[in-house]
Amino acid sequence: MSETNLLIHDLEAAVSPAGNGPLRGRKLGELDVHSPASVAVSGDRIVAIGNPEDVLREHPPSAECVEIDGSGNVALPGLVDCHAHAAFLGDRAREFELRSAGASYEELHAAGGGILSTVNATRVGSEEELTAAVERHLGWMLEHGTTTAEVKSGYGLDRESELKMLRSIGRAAKNSPVDVSPTFLAHTPSPEFEDAGEYVEYVIWEVLPEAARYASAADIFLERGSFEVPESRRYLEACKEYGLALRMHGDQFTERGAIPLAIELGARSVDHLEATGAEGAKLLAGSDVTAVLLPGCALFLDLPLPPARKLVEQGGIIALATDFNPGSSFCESLPLMMSLACTRLKLSPAEALSACTANAAHVLGKSGEAGRLAPGYRADILVLDAPDWRYLAYHLGGDRFAARVKSGKLL
Ligand code: NIG
Ligand code: FE
Repeated sequence: MSETNLLIHDLEAAVSPAGNGPLRGRKLGELDVHSPASVAVSGDRIVAIGNPEDVLREHPPSAECVEIDGSGNVALPGLVDCHAHAAFLGDRAREFELRSAGASYEELHAAGGGILSTVNATRVGSEEELTAAVERHLGWMLEHGTTTAEVKSGYGLDRESELKMLRSIGRAAKNSPVDVSPTFLAHTPSPEFEDAGEYVEYVIWEVLPEAARYASAADIFLERGSFEVPESRRYLEACKEYGLALRMHGDQFTERGAIPLAIELGARSVDHLEATGAEGAKLLAGSDVTAVLLPGCALFLDLPLPPARKLVEQGGIIALATDFNPGSSFCESLPLMMSLACTRLKLSPAEALSACTANAAHVLGKSGEAGRLAPGYRADILVLDAPDWRYLAYHLGGDRFAARVKSGKLL
């Protein structure tokens, strides 16, 4: 029998998305609830979860065992942020002020601000500065319960700066307890190029071969002012050849073919969907492409909300993420996204939980590893300082953890 090196005992409850793999449609709200509960950990894995007496009898603590008294508290899986732009330098506080006076996000982008202002700030910084910034941002995310996160490039645009971004993400990941999935993002055409098509050829020939060594997925922003369907198809097909999983920013401001393209290419996800109409929602819900919903962005930019309920009722796979970035969603808190999902997207707390744990892990290719509290899963565990797990969404901005465990280690 394996040694129990960490034991969380006498919890009010331990709660996890049910089943395995992504939860589709109404199954999204199915949870396994053990109450009361203990959780035993061996090495970096969960080995048992259930009735405290049974767990104690079958997995007695070793001499060195770390014991956590869970009485009055509940345990949940570590959260998974499957859409985050956590690698950037500088800020957009001035633009935030301009938007408060009526300027729109798209106007600022068209005038050379927006994404490009963060590109300028990120290009001039050193690799050390950027690594430190990513580490700091991962620390903020971890404070809010994120134990697995995507981090996108996309604020470099040119070869040197994109590779600097990807190396910084890798270096920061080594120094952070958060498990990081790096994504190579074609964010917007670099201003040095004539047009988007020419820029995409440059990226494919000059940047992708080396970028693919650092990244596990590729993403592109399909939107007016950035990339259209032909360039997106060209870029994503090339990335697929290098073995990268495919993601897409689509339907943020306008519907222009992101959903059909994501389905055609077998993408893991299409993210945003604030502008998706009834037809697009139906098409997406009937496919294996996950709809990643970003309510923080809708809130921060005052956009319409994505059709979350429609996607769930029509049997789709949805996930929930922060879109953490300095321009359109300067927020690293998944519990806050869960809260918005309940109040604005009309998901239940159970659906919101599965969307940023089990289903988000699926988007990152980590089903079976992260996103559930069950034997065999990595021991990424949140002990919420509350008598009811729903407090994670219910207590607005009030996620309070009595303990956080990452890969079997108490932080
Ligand atoms: O997902 N919309 C495109 N990209 C990001 C925003 C990046 C930025 O504004 O810096 C997003 O919202
Ligand atoms: Fe984004």
